[in-house]
Amino acid sequence: MASLKERLQDTVSYIQSKCDRKPLIGIVLGSGLGNLASEIIVEKELGYAEIPHFPVSTVKGHGGKLIFGLLNGVPVLAMSGRFHYYEGYTPAEVAYPIRAMHGLGVQTLLLSNAAGAVNPDYQVGDLVLINDHISFFTVNPLLGPNEDELGPRFPDMSEPYNKNIIAIAKRIAVDYGFSVHEGVYTGVTGPTFETRAEYKLIRAVGGDVVGMSTVQEVIAAVHTGMKVFCVSVVTDLGIREEDNIITHEEVLQAAEEAEPKLTTLFKELASELQRNIKLT
Ligand code: HPA
Repeated sequence: MASLKERLQDTVSYIQSKCDRKPLIGIVLGSGLGNLASEIIVEKELGYAEIPHFPVSTVKGHGGKLIFGLLNGVPVLAMSGRFHYYEGYTPAEVAYPIRAMHGLGVQTLLLSNAAGAVNPDYQVGDLVLINDHISFFTVNPLLGPNEDELGPRFPDMSEPYNKNIIAIAKRIAVDYGFSVHEGVYTGVTGPTFETRAEYKLIRAVGGDVVGMSTVQEVIAAVHTGMKVFCVSVVTDLGIREEDNIITHEEVLQAAEEAEPKLTTLFKELASELQRNIKLT
């Protein structure tokens, strides 16, 4: 099989042959949070299945797509549908589209996800600006030989989530009159939701929210030097009510209800970041 570098070159050349616009910002839309895509003025859509070396979807009809377009006038590249470790993809496959985005020139990545809260101050529907993560409960995408041209063997992870972007996001939330938390995301493999004892453990080790995505994408993005920002939408409460049962349907519904806040945040962030990039 071709090396990672060769595969990425193939992928990037194919995508560029279909759309030559250079995106400023990459966006990953989480479960139940896909409506943001309808705010993008689409220039080109590419189904994952047609892109060379992209992971192949395990679910028929749920292939996902890359969307090139303008969000609030800013050129973005959005992933509608992400790959999860629990679906059977390797951690490197989960990370592959992020590396492709980097190859296409994306330097800033905005991610969203649905997550369970273990911080007792959080409510369903709250937004949490992620300022750090715990990835030990899942598998690192950088295991194996390092591709030195992508990034270092031992990447620094002291600030995986860019502090300046978090500060801008907090200001936007104040301007639009909604509150946000700042907290730590704990990545787990899934697909089971956590037991009561596991939720307590996650809280005890410093997690505020827990979810089955994101950390592998963030590690791959930080490895390449991208700036990363992530918002979790709290879709369920892990440890509060003793009779609390969590279902996927309730997670999706809560995500949809919180979506307008997320959309506002990402739209405003896109234009603020474009202004900042022009200034520097
Ligand atoms: N645990 C793990 N993943 C999740 C949860 C949760 O409680 N809610 C949404 N995704």
